[in-house]
This record gives sequence, C-alpha cells and structure tokens, in this order.
Amino acid sequence: MTTYLDHAATTPPRPAARAALQRWLDVANPSSTHLPGQAARVAVEQARDQVASALGCSPHEVVFTAGATEADNLAVKGIVWAANQHRPGGRPHLVTTAVEHPAVLDPARWLAERGEATLSIVPAGADGRVDPEAVLAAVRADTVLVSVMAANNELGAVNDVPAIAAALAEREVAVHTDAVQAVLTREVDVGDWGVDALALSAHKLGGPAGVGVAVLRRGLPVVPLLHGGGQDRGVRSGTLAAGLDAACGVALEQTVAERSVLTPRLRDLSDRLAAGLLALDGVQRNGPADPTARLVTHLHVSIDGVDADALAVALDRAGLAASSGSACGSGAAASSHVLASIGARGTPLRLSLGWPSMDQDVDRALQVLGEVIPRLRRGVVRPATVRVEH
Ligand SMILES: Cc1ncc(COP(=O)(O)O)c(C=O)c1O
Repeated sequence: MTTYLDHAATTPPRPAARAALQRWLDVANPSSTHLPGQAARVAVEQARDQVASALGCSPHEVVFTAGATEADNLAVKGIVWAANQHRPGGRPHLVTTAVEHPAVLDPARWLAERGEATLSIVPAGADGRVDPEAVLAAVRADTVLVSVMAANNELGAVNDVPAIAAALAEREVAVHTDAVQAVLTREVDVGDWGVDALALSAHKLGGPAGVGVAVLRRGLPVVPLLHGGGQDRGVRSGTLAAGLDAACGVALEQTVAERSVLTPRLRDLSDRLAAGLLALDGVQRNGPADPTARLVTHLHVSIDGVDADALAVALDRAGLAASSGSACGSGAAASSHVLASIGARGTPLRLSLGWPSMDQDVDRALQVLGEVIPRLRRGVVRPATVRVEH
C-alpha cells in the first residue's frame, strides 16, 4: 500500500463531498425551469452559500469554475481586459511575484507578450516569502491589478496579503490572491483581507478535481473568459455542474468547520516529520524558518548527494508518494521557477500532508527516507528493502 504524502498536488475527496457529487451528478440542468432543474439549482445555490460563508463574501460574488487555473486566469486576464475596455489604447500595468503558480504567472506574461499589459514581477526573499513593501513599491499610477498568492504551493511560504490589500485600499488597484494552498489550514476571509478577487481549487481541500471558485467582489469589472449561455451573471458561461459545485461547497464547509482541530493535528505530524528528516545528514529545509510563516502541511527539503531521478524511482519502489525533483515530478521539480528564484541547491523533495494524514504516514516516510537517502549516496541501486506494514 502506498503512503501518500503529496496532498499539495491533490488530496482525496472527503466522504461528504463524494456523497454530494453522487447525489447531484444525475440531475437536470440547473438553468431549466422545470422541477428537476429547480432542484439542481437549489443544490448549486446552497453550495454557493456554503462557499460564501466559508470565505466571508456574498454568494453573488462566488463564481464556480473548472478549477483554480481558470479562476486565476479569469482574474488576471478579466481584470486587465476590463481596464483595456475602460481605457482603450493604454497598456495597464500589473504586478505579480516570481513565485506564483503558473496559473497566474503565465497569463500575466501572456498579456505582456501580446502588448495588452505591462508587467512587474517582484522577486521573493530567500525563504520564498514576498515582502509587502517590495510589492507596493512596484505599484504605479497605471497599475490595475496586484496578484500575490496567499501561500506558495512548493514551499508553503505564507504571504501577508491583508497588509498589501490594506495599503492599496484607497487606490484603484484590484488585489487578487491565489489561496489554493492556504485555505485548508488557515483562515481565509475575503472581507477581512480586503481582497477584490480570490481563487480556490476543490481538489486541494477534499473536493473533486475539475471544480474551483473565483471570488469576484461586487462592482469589480471583469471581462469573461468564456462566452455562451450567460450563466453566473455572464461572467462564466457554461451549464452549471450541480454535482461538482455541491461537492465543492460541502468540502469547503467541512474544511472550515474542522480547521481548528486539523491544523494543530497536522502541525504535530509535520514537526515530527521535519525533526526526523532534518536529523539526516545533508538534508536542509527550504522555506521560512519561522513556523508561523509557513503552512503546517508543507515540508520542502534539499538533499545533498542524491540524484533526483534515482530518488524518485527509489521512493516509488518503496511505496512513498511525494513530490520529488525528477524531470516529471511536480511541486518540487528541480527545474522549478520557485526554487530557482530562491537559489535552492540539492535535490528537492516536498512532503505534503492533508486532511487524511495519520501518524503512520509520518512513521513510514521517515523509515523509507532514512533507508533510501544513505543507500542512494552509497550508489546502491537495488530496490528499497523497507517493509510496508499496513
Ligand atoms: C497555488 C496553486 N494555484 C493554482 C493551482 C491550479 O489548480 P487547479 O488544479 O484547480 O487548476 C494549483 C494546483 O496545482 C496550485 O497549487
């Protein structure tokens, strides 16, 4: 049986989310006026209410998307396009950071390459956090959007998004945040944070893949990515996916309800994992040293003297699923723009916890890594001999 420590990549759906998906999968179109359609509509609107109360915004501000990639694209492109409509001929300026997920960085660069915007990319510090002052210093008179992630997906480094939003509150600059990784273990409140747009993904918190949320505050001008049937106030055309939306709503509601218990539980697991792993020779932590400045779910390390591909193969053989630095790995890839930007060396490994993580996952990971790392350094390529007891 595999020990799964790659929850930052995706985490299993919670039982209640599976049940909601199943319950509303086989229903009518929520936009239909007949009774089955209206029942499906009720499910979608209930999910919207759940999301809104979990995130401290109004249900009208919640747009269901196909995931955070779409939600990030909608905010970045939609806000810039709306500014272009408003001021034709001008090239609005947008500010983002070097450690954003490609779902933000790529549309931002794409807009700049097409001449639709000018772009400033603010570097992160050596611990992967972004200095709010550096972000604010990049804001100009023609800036229309600042996009800073709440927490980084590779390092778990947490940014002070509320401080950035507060400093820009009196300016005509929209603030967007990708809160995909933060929301499982940290409070995310659109109203308290003062952000104008936010992106979430259900499959990172115990919902299914293929659904996410864009929060777009009332009055925020956004040009849609998709044109068609005009659903969701014309911001996101396409038949509403009752099952996916209902499962997303339930997963987020449970996340918030359980967070005060889950976060300390995962902190204990993560502390034990870190203590064991960092006690091995030649293993250093990447990301913030200050525990309050990183997510309890993420442990990112660099390992000296171990080949990335050999590590990936050895971990697979030993039944430990983590994000390693092999060419095809995700989340801790050796070629990662995040690691390049903080100047990390060595072979990267990200171990990430999620809502189902248990003590035995940590025990097993430490057992496997304690055996595999020294063995790879000795250049022994036989399969791992660690026994799995589950
Ligand atoms: C920080 C961050 N943003 C965006 C995404 C994209 O989310 P989705 O898979 O829902 O498109 C991910 C997922 O890898 C992520 O970690």
